[in-house]
Amino acid sequence: TALTLAACGGGGDATDDGTAGGGETGAADGTTMRLSLNQTEEHPSFIALDNFGERLSEATDGRWDIEVYPNEVLGAQQESLQLVSEGGVEMAIVSGTQLENLNEDFLVFNLPKVFDDVEHQMSVVHDQEIVGDLYSSLEESDNLTVLGGFTQGARSVYTTSTAVETPADMAGMNLRVQESDLHIAMAEALGASATPMAFGEVYTALQSGVLDAGENNEVSYWTQKHFEVAPYWSYTNHLVGLDYLIINSDVLASMSEEDRAAFDEEWTAAYEEHTQLWDEATQDAIEQATAGGATFSEVDEEAFAEPLLALADQFINNDVQQALYDAARAAAE
Ligand code: GCU
Repeated sequence: TALTLAACGGGGDATDDGTAGGGETGAADGTTMRLSLNQTEEHPSFIALDNFGERLSEATDGRWDIEVYPNEVLGAQQESLQLVSEGGVEMAIVSGTQLENLNEDFLVFNLPKVFDDVEHQMSVVHDQEIVGDLYSSLEESDNLTVLGGFTQGARSVYTTSTAVETPADMAGMNLRVQESDLHIAMAEALGASATPMAFGEVYTALQSGVLDAGENNEVSYWTQKHFEVAPYWSYTNHLVGLDYLIINSDVLASMSEEDRAAFDEEWTAAYEEHTQLWDEATQDAIEQATAGGATFSEVDEEAFAEPLLALADQFINNDVQQALYDAARAAAE
């Protein structure tokens, strides 16, 4: 089920008690976990999570439910991460770049070219032998458990003024990146200057000229309406991005064994549904943005490849990172 903050204003308050596990009490006397998302209700992530909540509620006879709050209404990703850690909000979707700031081993999956495509990525990020230790690594330090991920698809560059073909074409452009040292370096590898910024601020920054360019997938390009202010899309395909589902570790630990099993099963069904929705959502976004005046162009992929690949050498600096990288690449072959 989905409510906006306004719609539930008369009922339970979003963060009233601020304690882990103390979600709203629904009709069935169960716990409703609030989930913070920065996408719109049309986005596949919202759809898959909303369905996840419905199935979880059925499977647990209403003992557990999920209320998805879209559009950053519970905060941008940095704030959401903090809220989930403190227990003010139970769950969130955050980009891999956010987790890199808590444990730098996460940066491996934020590297350009580490994943060949969505299928490869999903097989790696849900392989417990590869990711088990990584996903529990924030439990002691931050009270956060990582459950797995949704693909962000392949990300490319789009600009306000002109289609880009080579890194040289990006010289002097301010490119918005997520809040990550790796992605700041990535902007430079793409030939641009980096401006790290929260997702929800990008439209206005492109419109006002603070930014010359953004980089994202077609789905967000469309749902966030960035194509209206930056209509020149160039297929750099520089990385296949990853969003994580995170949950407050105390909340997770408070589930009975039976409910936890149902939760895990329905979450698996949720990321599978998301992956299934992704291709069609991408095609749809391209059509809609094109109808809205956007142009989609190919780039000189060779010219971009080398500086992007060099980022792995530059950023991988411990054995855990190297092992994650090697495991991810081995799964591609
Ligand atoms: C994608 C991703 C989001 C992320 C956003 C961004 O839309 O799914 O989690 O916040 O990119 O560029 O910030």
